[in-house]
Amino acid sequence: MTTQYYAAASLDGFIATEDDSLDWLFQLGNVDDTSYPAFIAEVGALAMGSTTYEWMLRHANEVAQETGTAWPYTQPVWIFSSRELPTIDGANIHFVRGDVRPVHSDMMKAAGSRNIWIVGGGDLAGQFYDAGLLDEIIVQVGSVTLGEGKPFFPRRLVTPPLNLISVQQFGPGLAELRYQVPKAAR
Ligand SMILES: NC(=O)c1ccc[n+]([C@@H]2O[C@H](COP(=O)([O-])OP(=O)(O)OC[C@H]3O[C@@H](n4cnc5c(N)ncnc54)[C@H](OP(=O)(O)O)[C@@H]3O)[C@@H](O)[C@H]2O)c1
Repeated sequence: MTTQYYAAASLDGFIATEDDSLDWLFQLGNVDDTSYPAFIAEVGALAMGSTTYEWMLRHANEVAQETGTAWPYTQPVWIFSSRELPTIDGANIHFVRGDVRPVHSDMMKAAGSRNIWIVGGGDLAGQFYDAGLLDEIIVQVGSVTLGEGKPFFPRRLVTPPLNLISVQQFGPGLAELRYQVPKAAR
């Protein structure tokens, strides 16, 4: 079982625009033609921050069009927020706040032998990294630049560097890089 931060970023390192638009990403290809179907099949638990969750609430219709349902996850999802947020009928959601370590422990129990997906945003992935709990970073680098936006991974990770384990192209729009987070940094 691995804890993976899996996300798409612009070439200049942003996962969304300042106003949380993902339109730049959806023009780059169909998610079914990427590593996503195989990736999500191995996921047993997810974590996301409140901005990402609220994006899904706001875009429920688009998500349903893409995936057939407004909440596409059958796995349990932990939502980090200091606020009270609406729930979604039929979704297996846990609202949590603060230290990621006890949450990760609960996620491991729920995931069993499957993986833990840190959906984002970047700082939440950074919190798991800070706690030594992040094993892999998988990024689909999109063939666009945004100039500014929500950062992919707002941390300084220099020595030892990440260990690049694979590179894969999905059409002209996406290059996927898979990195192992070195043990000393965990
Ligand atoms: N390109 C991609 O693949 C991809 C992947 C994921 C997300 N996204 C998009 O990127 C954007 C990410 O937004 P974001 O950078 O603002 O990140 P986010 O992680 O979605 O949301 C950040 C918010 O989550 C809450 N939070 C985070 N850690 C917490 C903790 N430990 N305890 C309690 N609350 C905590 C805080 O808000 P409150 O306490 O006020 O609730 C914080 O401001 C969204 O637009 C999302 O749709 C893109």
